[in-house]
Amino acid sequence: MTTNQQEFDRARGAMPGGVNSPVRAFGSVAETPRFFVSASGPYVTDVEGREYVDLVGSWGPAILGHAHPAVVKAVQDAAGRGLGFGASTPGETELAELIAARVTRDGSHPVERVRLVSTGTEATMTAIRLARGATGRDLVVKFAGHYHGHSDGLLAEAGSGVATLAMPGSAGVPAAIAAQTLVIPYNDLGAVREVFAARGDEIAAVIVEAAPANMGIVPPAHGFNAALADIAHAHGALLILDEVLTGFRVGPAGWYGIDPVPFAPDLITFGKVVGGGLPLAAIGGPAALMELLAPLGPVYQAGTLSGNPLAVAAGRATLDHLDSAAYARLDAASTAIAEAAASALSAAGVTHVLQRSGNLFSIQFAAEAPTDYDTVKAQQAFRYPPFFRSMLAQGVSLPPSVFEAWFVSASHDDEAVSRIVAALPAAARAAAEATPG
Ligand SMILES: Cc1ncc(COP(=O)(O)O)c(C=O)c1O
Repeated sequence: MTTNQQEFDRARGAMPGGVNSPVRAFGSVAETPRFFVSASGPYVTDVEGREYVDLVGSWGPAILGHAHPAVVKAVQDAAGRGLGFGASTPGETELAELIAARVTRDGSHPVERVRLVSTGTEATMTAIRLARGATGRDLVVKFAGHYHGHSDGLLAEAGSGVATLAMPGSAGVPAAIAAQTLVIPYNDLGAVREVFAARGDEIAAVIVEAAPANMGIVPPAHGFNAALADIAHAHGALLILDEVLTGFRVGPAGWYGIDPVPFAPDLITFGKVVGGGLPLAAIGGPAALMELLAPLGPVYQAGTLSGNPLAVAAGRATLDHLDSAAYARLDAASTAIAEAAASALSAAGVTHVLQRSGNLFSIQFAAEAPTDYDTVKAQQAFRYPPFFRSMLAQGVSLPPSVFEAWFVSASHDDEAVSRIVAALPAAARAAAEATPG
């Protein structure tokens, strides 16, 4: 048996930082990353044989819990028929139809056509190319603290790992490309109106996380998405709704289905849950827009592994099992964990807020609920690493950054929830004792 530390030392000799995605290095929580060997339901097991209740959930996809038997069987069956053909399969059409049918509200169907890709990054990148192709304009508006994947134009003031590492953006992005993205503060309709007043006829699209979850949870202000759609449309620009994280998680039709004020996005991007744990993501929208994509239209997009049959099988099985009972279990577990975390912190005298968007939540160490990236960054983030390390030592695997959501699954049963609840008081005391720097 090896230790996590031995695995990490070896990994660092083989891969930059020992990881294939930066947050996995546990840098901001000053802890040795755990190397997992198996997972089942709400639990993950590391190379040392230690079991943890998991609140990372593969960063979202594991919504039914790890290795859900129906999902595993669907993938095994698909694998037995061939790993991929580089040609179309009936399953792709079925998944596309399933996505289109689920994303509905009050009789509206914003998704008439779907293109399957392999990652959320590809989905948002393609949506932007499509918006540019449709409008003949170049500029894109994004919000500070929102994360839309790691394509060149979308890394400016991004959330998720970029926020965790406190990077303003990324080296290697040409200035000419960065200049095509206008970054404005979130939840600030004045800033939206201002940027459209100044450059409205050059803006192809505004891209927004449907309910931001990559700077921790920062819910949209009441009616924000609807106002955003109206402003963009008034200027002939498109609204790209990024539901890579929220899609099929916060409800059967994603955030689109539960935003208190209905609104009309033009393109919607999906990822994570829609692939059931395998690499699959999607872009959806009306036929008139989507059919600008090759082979019908002039906007090029392609992928060797797009619509891979194993990923399609995992996605279909996951969506098939995400019924109202699964959402009810997920919502109940999420509420129980969120409220227990908040009350443990209150009992320890730690200033914090619990922010929620549907069943997504995170804790922020601030007196007032942050509403944008600046207020998120102003929190007492130094309280999170000791809190995280205490939870980990007690067998609970939290996201290794204060800027991430806690991912609960429908498999978090009473036993899993009570293990989390039991660990919280000591972690809260560790957060209380934390000092800056
Ligand atoms: C809202 C959002 N968009 C896009 C992405 C990028 O997805 P991927 O990591 O699959 O490229 C993410 C990933 O966390 C995300 O949360």
